[in-house]
Amino acid sequence: MATNRTFTMIKPDAFEAGNSGAILKMIEEAGFKIVAMKATQLTSELAGKFYAVHAERPFYADLCAYMSSGPIIAAILEKDNAVEDFRKLIGATNPADAAEGTIRKIFAKSIEANAVHGSDSDENAAIEGAFYFSEFERVG
Ligand code: CMP
Repeated sequence: MATNRTFTMIKPDAFEAGNSGAILKMIEEAGFKIVAMKATQLTSELAGKFYAVHAERPFYADLCAYMSSGPIIAAILEKDNAVEDFRKLIGATNPADAAEGTIRKIFAKSIEANAVHGSDSDENAAIEGAFYFSEFERVG
């Protein structure tokens, strides 16, 4: 896995609100290239697998229920320094703490319904991208 890729999901709140296009526009204008993308809906079980690292956290059950509550968009993105730059673009997990102009500041409703996910490391970007996409479903 190249270190210049990250993984994102546009979460149910943003998808339902019709903000996917505006969010993807911000992502592309920030210089990220879409390497793979699909609209899909997780089951609660699949959400649990995706977020297994948070299994012991008090918000885990709510997170799995929320992330399976409606459609999402999953995508692999490419750019130099992708993981770090994407986390800057989306802003803090809690939109109350997110910087002005970030995706979460603009679109997120709450710490749970926070519009987008972004991988927190190159290693997790590779794991999360592989969760959704085979090699045949990626550009390049
Ligand atoms: P995400 O970046 O997708 O990674 C894990 C998610 O758990 C996070 O975004 C939030 O949506 C959610 N999360 C993190 N902390 C909390 C919390 N304290 N309460 C509820 N949800 C949380």
